[in-house]
Amino acid sequence: MVSLLGISGSLRASSFNTALLRAAQPLAGDSARLDAATLHGIPLYDGDLEQREGTPAAVRTLKEQILASDGLLLVSPEYNNGVPGVFKNAVDWLSRPTPGLPDVFRERPVAVIGASPGGFGTILSQAHWLPVLRTLGTHTWQGGRLMVSRASSVFGEDGTLQDDKVRQQLGEFVQGFAAFVAGTKRG
Ligand SMILES: Cc1cc2nc3c(=O)[nH]c(=O)nc-3n(C[C@H](O)[C@H](O)[C@H](O)COP(=O)(O)O)c2cc1C
Repeated sequence: MVSLLGISGSLRASSFNTALLRAAQPLAGDSARLDAATLHGIPLYDGDLEQREGTPAAVRTLKEQILASDGLLLVSPEYNNGVPGVFKNAVDWLSRPTPGLPDVFRERPVAVIGASPGGFGTILSQAHWLPVLRTLGTHTWQGGRLMVSRASSVFGEDGTLQDDKVRQQLGEFVQGFAAFVAGTKRG
C-alpha cells in the first residue's frame, strides 16, 4: 500500500484547493491511500523564533506526517501568478533542520495540482513551484498535469466535486502519481 499525503495551500474553509484535495482522496485507487494535512497553526518563518524555540509544534507535526508518507501532493492555489506566501512559508519552515528528524524533501516523490476560479487553473503557480522543488531535491513527478480552471462551476457550494470530466482527470492524476511513488519504493 502506497501512502500519499496531500497538503492544501489554502487556509480558507471554503477553499477550492482543499475541496480538490478532498475530492482526490477517494480516487487514489485500491493500492494507495491519500491523507490530507493542513497548514493551520504554522507561524510566519522567523529565524529568531527558530533559534529561541526550535521547530514550532505545527511544523513538527507536518514534518512527521510527511515522513510517515511515501509521496507528497501539493494542492496549490495561485496568487499573483506565483505560489501563495502561506504555502511557501510552510515549505520554508519544513525545509529547516529539526534535531532528530531527517530532511522531509530530499528525494521525496512530489506532485503539484491546483484549482482557480480563473481560466488558467494555476498554471503559473505550478510552474513557480518547480525551482523551489528542484532546490529542495524532491523527486518531482512530471508524468501528469492537472489545472482545474473555473473552479466555481466545478465544485458545488458544499465543496463537492460536480464535474465528471475533472473527476476522471483527478483520478488519473492521483493514480498515476501513486504508481510512480510505488515504483520509487521498489527501486
Ligand atoms: C492575493 C491574491 C492573488 C490572486 N492571484 C491570482 C492569480 O494570479 N491567478 C489566479 O488564477 N487566481 C488568483 N487569485 C484568485 C485565487 O485563485 C482564488 O482566490 C482562489 O479561490 C484561491 O484558492 P482557494 O479557493 O483554495 O483559497 C488570487 C487571490 C488572491 C487572494
